[in-house]
Amino acid sequence: MSRINLRRLRQDRHIRGLTREHRVSPEQFIQPLFVVEGLAGREEVPGLTGVYRDTPDSLLYQIESDLKAGVEKFLLFGVPMGKATHAIDWSFDAGQIARIKQRFGSDIWLSVDVCLCSSTPHGHCGVLNPEGDHLDNRASVRELAAAAAAYAQAGADCVAPSDMMDGRIGAIRDALEQAGCDRTLLMSYAAKFHSTFYGPFRVAADSAPKQQSKLTDRSSYQIDPARPGDALLSVERDVAEGADILMVKPGMPYLDILADLSRQFPQPWAVYEVSGEYAAIELLAREGLTNRIAAHREAWTALVRAGASMIISYGARHAREWLAP
Ligand code: PBG
Repeated sequence: MSRINLRRLRQDRHIRGLTREHRVSPEQFIQPLFVVEGLAGREEVPGLTGVYRDTPDSLLYQIESDLKAGVEKFLLFGVPMGKATHAIDWSFDAGQIARIKQRFGSDIWLSVDVCLCSSTPHGHCGVLNPEGDHLDNRASVRELAAAAAAYAQAGADCVAPSDMMDGRIGAIRDALEQAGCDRTLLMSYAAKFHSTFYGPFRVAADSAPKQQSKLTDRSSYQIDPARPGDALLSVERDVAEGADILMVKPGMPYLDILADLSRQFPQPWAVYEVSGEYAAIELLAREGLTNRIAAHREAWTALVRAGASMIISYGARHAREWLAP
């Protein structure tokens, strides 16, 4: 006869609820949004059920319906029609931010992705050198800081650089101070890996590296999946430069990174459950190979268990429904 009976605490939903060490709550979620210039009508993003490339008008309806579903926090990606290699015009993105904040004010918390990939003809996250074989760090940071200041002045509550250049956190913090935006939060995509899981996003944001330069992928600026040490150094750098919130991206394949870093750094940790992770669950569910809601809950639980206090997920707008007991 065994004295140890671990199944006693698993036997019904009451005791399972009482013994849980981690809980996922709808207030931890941030919903990504895409607003695209020059679209005739909104388009669903291939692979991301219920996620759209919105027009400026349809976006406002989307936010209204999200608010009704209890979603108040967003991460906005602006996709302008005009592309430029440098001296980029951020007025489309900034105009959208101003419009959203005019309409919804402090009912919503609006973070905005800061990057060049949707705004350059080549689709890279920075400014290419004249030879087109690498990114010019200094020129890239100048553009990023200008974007961040424009977004903050337009009313963004948080700016989130996802480009992976060196020194951008410090430069953006300085630019925010100069613009009189000392309360704007800075969320750094500090531990962002060179991942194959960004596919659906690149369609949504029109941001895939195009074949126009010698640089064909992002491996010369995003972190190698086999180098956790690089992620640690990247986080140390961004903390030193004044990041308020740190991020690991993608989520599930990088739980070890999230667990390690969130134990080492007391800053709040975000995790980005990226487009390919979300789409993978949606595909399994569509094929009848998993239970959609249970699979999303399991993935989210893993992210929280690993140390995330906030989750950027394409399923954020379902969190209240999917997490209901
Ligand atoms: C752009 C950016 C990417 C994502 C967020 N910001 C793509 C990339 O780096 O290629 C990915 C998000 C996702 O896949 O959901 N710098």
